[in-house]
Amino acid sequence: MSFTPAHVFTVKIPEFSKPSVFMRDPQKVQKIMQSMVKAGFNTLQVISDFDMTLTRFAYNGKRCPTCHNIMDNSKLISSEGRAKLKELLDTYYPIEIDSSLSVEEKLPLMVEWWTKAHDLLIQQAIKKDHLAVMVNESDAKLRDGFQLFFDHLHKHNVPLLIFSAGVGDILEEVIRQAGVFHPNVKVFSNYMDFDEAGVLRAFKGELIHVYNKREGAMLNTGHFQELRARPNVLLLGDSLGDLNMADGVQDMQNILKIGFLNDKVEERKQAYLDSYDIVLVKDETMEVPNAILELAP
Ligand code: C5P
Ligand code: MG
Repeated sequence: MSFTPAHVFTVKIPEFSKPSVFMRDPQKVQKIMQSMVKAGFNTLQVISDFDMTLTRFAYNGKRCPTCHNIMDNSKLISSEGRAKLKELLDTYYPIEIDSSLSVEEKLPLMVEWWTKAHDLLIQQAIKKDHLAVMVNESDAKLRDGFQLFFDHLHKHNVPLLIFSAGVGDILEEVIRQAGVFHPNVKVFSNYMDFDEAGVLRAFKGELIHVYNKREGAMLNTGHFQELRARPNVLLLGDSLGDLNMADGVQDMQNILKIGFLNDKVEERKQAYLDSYDIVLVKDETMEVPNAILELAP
């Protein structure tokens, strides 16, 4: 089944007319989509960031938490610990999204943020048994339309790799509680290491932060190896650091990159348009990715 450009844009994807949707090169998007649709679901893999990509950035005008923030804000953490974690967020998040700084300038500061935050979380002696309660009591929300997104990929056996600089244990709990942790989902993230008593004592493996996803992707080539028969990639992210998440994919044929631009829109819009094929500005839904996935025969 093939689609003419007119079909793809005017008939098949009315969601592209939403005021939140921007593309620098709609012709290119059209070409990539046509190739991917033609090749079908059995050649597709989806690689997605988690925080602020699969989860909402805001709800009713209030910021939603990242994996880290779910713990940072929890009543199960001491008020002193919460204050220190909030101070870190207020210091380093503006650096993360500052478009006047280069990745090279940000990199050591991001390592510093993650390291300090993880040390504080370890000091809080977080219990494995408390994670489900922390998630349940939090304001974290998957984007509207998440159910369709996860279920559709599951139904068509499309692998979904969630590649997150958040915390794997928390992330898994969010998607488990939402009922969408299907067997086609694989998570690559920072995981907690608990002692015999179930108390947090460290984080496992190499640290993944927002600007070293390329290194993570290269470490994760085993996963991509299994997926060699799936050379088409739909990539979803919210940070420019997420653009490297597919760097471990060998023999890639097509990649369609969708970027959620949630914050500091005016300052960052051009950079997002230059690197993501489709930019979704303050769009809290999965409507566009879902509409693209619905195209495949
Ligand atoms: O899943 P994702 O890769 O998006 O997770 C990383 C996000 O977590 C970053 O964008 C950062 O803003 C946030 N973060 C946080 N607290 C930390 C470290 C990172 O909220 N201590
Ligand atoms: Mg993110």
